[in-house]
Amino acid sequence: MTDSTFTLTNQEREAQLELDQLQQLVGLVPYDERQDVFPVTGWDAIVFVVGNATQAAHFYQSAFGMELVAYSGPETGNRDHKAYVLKSGSIRFVLKGGVDPDSPLHDHVRRHGDGVVDISLEVPDVDRCVEHARSVGATVVQEPEDLRDDYGAVRIAAIGTYGETRHTLVQRGDYSGPYLPGYVPRRSEYTRREGAPKRLFQALDHIVGNVELGKMDEWVEFYRRVMGFSNMAEFIGDDIATDYSALMSKVVANGNHRVKFPLNEPAVGKRKSQIDEYLEFYRGPGAQHLALATNDILRTVDCMRAEGVEFLATPDSYYEDPALRERIGEVRVPIEELQKRGILVDRDEDGYLLQIFTRPVQDRPTVFFELIERHGSLGFGKGNFKALFEAIEREQAKRGNL
Ligand SMILES: [Fe+2]
Repeated sequence: MTDSTFTLTNQEREAQLELDQLQQLVGLVPYDERQDVFPVTGWDAIVFVVGNATQAAHFYQSAFGMELVAYSGPETGNRDHKAYVLKSGSIRFVLKGGVDPDSPLHDHVRRHGDGVVDISLEVPDVDRCVEHARSVGATVVQEPEDLRDDYGAVRIAAIGTYGETRHTLVQRGDYSGPYLPGYVPRRSEYTRREGAPKRLFQALDHIVGNVELGKMDEWVEFYRRVMGFSNMAEFIGDDIATDYSALMSKVVANGNHRVKFPLNEPAVGKRKSQIDEYLEFYRGPGAQHLALATNDILRTVDCMRAEGVEFLATPDSYYEDPALRERIGEVRVPIEELQKRGILVDRDEDGYLLQIFTRPVQDRPTVFFELIERHGSLGFGKGNFKALFEAIEREQAKRGNL
């Protein structure tokens, strides 16, 4: 191992991404993993449990431009559920849906609706991570074990995080299969529209967790103590919280900044917070949104919208506000192009970012996605919170939950 780990992961290499590209896309930084009590290489996979994985797999292919690469199900000897593995750039999503009427996956859907059950992380040494996690009081929900098939072996374990969410830790070594042992390679019959880009996003930037009132600092502390994550500068405190739909937020990141977790808790405001709405409908804490990094947010939004993905509307007044132009300065496209699509802009001392949020992608008002195009800024769009809250509250009011 070199002093400072600043290398591509296998998934990034396979996706033909470059280091400087990842620095721009997700703010990747070099760091010395020998000083890390819990070294994390990056995201391994995001596992969703859904009511109908077969249909969800189609949605993520057609609307999100992802590619089916692997499968497990009754045809491969897995009688409990079907699981579809989809990729876009270095991102891997796994969609699971129960087949056996007694599958525990149905209980998860009954309680939470479609949601993220596992934010799985690739680590160089599972046993070292688990030993440290246990020594500082984390719950080990799956002890380290080797899984094998004809492609080789992976070593995995899992620790619990907020709600019923877990972090499976995956040590891949030179495993050469399409995902994990038991999964077979699978391509789809689905064909992209003519002229469609190769992919709509390249990497996962961050995943936000919603936790209960008063629990944010506990989870920030969990990620610091158990996983050696550090706080990033951005946070939303009382100042913003009380006036605009009430949330507090802090961000933690792993050593190389591939993995970033903003953690939200509701703040006491005049109206019902969007975090309260989530906690009510998800029946507890869970992953709220996943931010997908793209190098061309305009094209990505256009493609996704053409396939029926709905985004939160941004009021024209956001773009016409003279303070906006002053706040954001020069960006790579005319503001009118952003306005046409409802894309938000934020700037800090390091640069700027463009971002937009989808509506919830399932029946419950819970999980949604963000598209983010970074130009130097390592923030999360704090300056947009007011505009975003106003947009979200309009949606909440329509559902009668404000
Ligand atoms: Fe975000």
